[in-house]
Amino acid sequence: MQSMNEYYSAVQLRADRWSSLREKTEFLVRNPDGKRTKAIHAEAVKLFESLELIERYWAFPGMAAFETMRRQFEHSHLGELSHAVRRVNRALSTGAYRRRAVPLDRDGFDDDHDEEGLLPPDARALAKPYFEVMIVDDVNEHQERWLRANMVAMRRPEDDFIYEPVIVPSLQDALIGVLFNHNIQAIIVRPGLKRESDVELPILTRYLNPAASAEEMDDIAPQDLGPELCRLIAKVRPELDAYLVTDRSVEDIAGLDLGICRRVFYNQEDFMELHLNILRGVQARYKTPFFTALKEYSRQPTGVFHAMPISRGKSITRSHWIQDMGAFYGPNIFLAETSATSGGLDSLLEPHGTIKEAQELASRAFGSKQTFFATNGTSTCNKIVVQALVRPDDIVLVDRDCHKSHHYGMVLSGAQVCYLDSYPLNEYSMYGAVPLREIKAQLLKLKAAGKLDRVRMLLLTNCTFDGIVYNVERVMEECLAIKPDLVFLWDEAWFAFARFGPIYRQRTGMNAANNLRERLRSPAHEKAYAKQQEKLADADDETLLKTRLIPSPKARVRVYATQSTHKTLTSLRQGSMIHVNDQDFKGEVEESFHEAYMTHTSTSPNYQIIASLDVGRRQVELEGFEFVQRQVEAAMSMRRAISTHPLLQKYFKVLTAGDMIPEEHRESGVHSYYDPEQGWTDTWHCWEKDEFVLDATRVTLAVGGTGWDGDTFKTEILMDKYGIQINKTSRNTVLFMTNIGTTRSSVAYLIEVLVEIAKGLDEKLDDASKMELLSFEKRVKNLMQDLPPLPDFSYFHTAFCPDANTGEGDIRTPFFLSYDENNCDYLDLNGEILAELEKGREVVSASFIIPYPPGFPILVPGQVVSPEILAFMRALDVSEIHGYRAHLGLRVFTDEALAKQIEKNNSKK
Ligand SMILES: Cc1ncc(COP(=O)(O)O)c(C=O)c1O
Repeated sequence: MQSMNEYYSAVQLRADRWSSLREKTEFLVRNPDGKRTKAIHAEAVKLFESLELIERYWAFPGMAAFETMRRQFEHSHLGELSHAVRRVNRALSTGAYRRRAVPLDRDGFDDDHDEEGLLPPDARALAKPYFEVMIVDDVNEHQERWLRANMVAMRRPEDDFIYEPVIVPSLQDALIGVLFNHNIQAIIVRPGLKRESDVELPILTRYLNPAASAEEMDDIAPQDLGPELCRLIAKVRPELDAYLVTDRSVEDIAGLDLGICRRVFYNQEDFMELHLNILRGVQARYKTPFFTALKEYSRQPTGVFHAMPISRGKSITRSHWIQDMGAFYGPNIFLAETSATSGGLDSLLEPHGTIKEAQELASRAFGSKQTFFATNGTSTCNKIVVQALVRPDDIVLVDRDCHKSHHYGMVLSGAQVCYLDSYPLNEYSMYGAVPLREIKAQLLKLKAAGKLDRVRMLLLTNCTFDGIVYNVERVMEECLAIKPDLVFLWDEAWFAFARFGPIYRQRTGMNAANNLRERLRSPAHEKAYAKQQEKLADADDETLLKTRLIPSPKARVRVYATQSTHKTLTSLRQGSMIHVNDQDFKGEVEESFHEAYMTHTSTSPNYQIIASLDVGRRQVELEGFEFVQRQVEAAMSMRRAISTHPLLQKYFKVLTAGDMIPEEHRESGVHSYYDPEQGWTDTWHCWEKDEFVLDATRVTLAVGGTGWDGDTFKTEILMDKYGIQINKTSRNTVLFMTNIGTTRSSVAYLIEVLVEIAKGLDEKLDDASKMELLSFEKRVKNLMQDLPPLPDFSYFHTAFCPDANTGEGDIRTPFFLSYDENNCDYLDLNGEILAELEKGREVVSASFIIPYPPGFPILVPGQVVSPEILAFMRALDVSEIHGYRAHLGLRVFTDEALAKQIEKNNSKK
């Protein structure tokens, strides 16, 4: 049996324990008196002991069936036992227990097709969805039977869903249960619950960490256990519904924070009422107003007398030449294509009906105050938010490595941009993220220059393409302490899924905003603030930079997050959302937001994208937790498999948090999520504390050891030879992104491929001549050691930068100045620029220069070319440099154009 530390999660442990039990029982049936029988028997005893702790949190097979199996084992009814264990294994892996009762005895009829997951897709779509309801009450066996019987007796044929109860005795068990059992959708908290669990299995008890500390749990008064449980579950699984049954008075309960509690039952045992509430609660999440309306619409007969010949497939079915398109997509997509905004449909530009409702449900799901759908990707969302909030000449602090849509947003809005530098990872030719110290220093500099009132927004990417995640709450807290009405835009293009992982959630913009709003209102915060203010009365900047600053209780929480739903959750391409949690949205932003939304949104938004956003939201509210959990597990097992495989270690390295985040930004000291000697690290503590953490679902693999650069490895090896697609590479790395659709077998295939590549290399090097070996070593050294240092942002030329001390630059003027060819010149990268620099000329870029990879501008309009940037560009051997035309050279401003601009600026003063 593998040791507990070998498992990243209890879900994996459970699956593994059941399949081990199957192997053991089958062995015992085949070898009743073999040499190893005794040892195997002892192992089976241990498996039963371990499963007993686990199974109490799940409805299938259920403790009663489990006890029957244990008795079969004790009485050596091994044939029956082995049959039952096999059925459990099959039902757990195919999910058959969700669709019908699975008989475990040999006489029970069973339909094996279903168990193999072969039910036709239509039948699966029509089957009633299944879930589990957790009842929290410390009951004896008799009461438990009574409770179960009452719950099951409420089932009616017309119910939309079917559920099974799971009964646990304590607050702690309930918290473990909701984080372990992804089938739970509702919790009934009854007055008899106790505080502590008697389970002492660390892999289970560590589920308690995200919910509450041990002291916090100890402090709960016995009469408050029920209400507090509802509050604590809201922290870890806010999408669930709780029902509190209490024997306390209405007045007693009224003032308490009941978290996710949908309804309180005052000491009554009305099971039908409870049943109807449970179904209604799940229905509220299941509901997809726009998708349902679109389905309805597509079923109605209509005559089309406006645009869109493709609507209802008419232009296709009548065609002689494009029939294959109809055959490929099937009829429904065309029946659902329309430009109508009535008949149950709605207008994205002015939503009043089903789209409005769908957006409100998304807002609930993602924890925002308002949510807006976008059908043109996060590229558009970013421009909308920037345009809505930033006025010409506002100062915006921007992470220089952010997506190009932000830079274009700055051009459109006429912002004065202060670029912030991320820490470089020279060894891997990629950037990390912007240290908080750097952000604070820039704000303090602006404050000293008397410009704080013009600072409008801080814009950061969370998480970065490579998986670096900010401590969002801390960043906002400390920035608000310097500038109390600062607006935050978190580009969460890659982070929509994070809301549904309890450990990830705390580092999302919306969650942090909600926490901050609550905290700023608390008396404890007010006190802490007053105390710190006293202490910092005459503090210099260095002290402020070193101190964890506390914002004024009057600070405004103004947070925006943009997410490419399509990148990490279920949505058609370009489906994105803007989430708003801004205390001043209604009073100050609503109008300009509307204008910005109109500027960038098509008047023909794609309905299929909107419907997919609606369905994607349903999915995350009902199974986002399960899918994210599985995704993290798949990524973790991939990390472990690659980093422990002896052959793979020769040529590859999975980059760990320690490789990608410098030590000073990892207060927890956690270097790697997995250590071959110690097993898995509990990631909770580093995610709670560290300045930066690594999103484990993105696996960066250093491939320089193979002698291929990242791009060649991606296209010529992974793509052409093995059909594996990846997106991002650096000079010596490739990035494997898992997503909620990643399966264990896709991970296994990738490992197989890597092993095959490594074997191929082994063989090639075995037969290589001395010269060939030398050349291979040289290539590896070149890729792994001789890397050009990554340059920082240089500075804006005086013509576009009114104050070199604070450095904010006007990016819009040079952008449009370059429209006139007469203002520009082209300089050859290999000789001319260097010669000009040596002459002492300030060479100023007239365009965005974006090498891909890494995919962010190494130069922006108006920026001065530094020797470091030039060296970096010359050393780059990537095939794409957007904005740079090799046959012409780098587009720069003429000295005359710059002089004229300075003159113009002076005459304005
Ligand atoms: C950080 C970041 N923001 C925004 C975008 C743009 O998102 P979309 O493709 O949804 O327009 C991307 C795309 O890769 C991105 O990486």
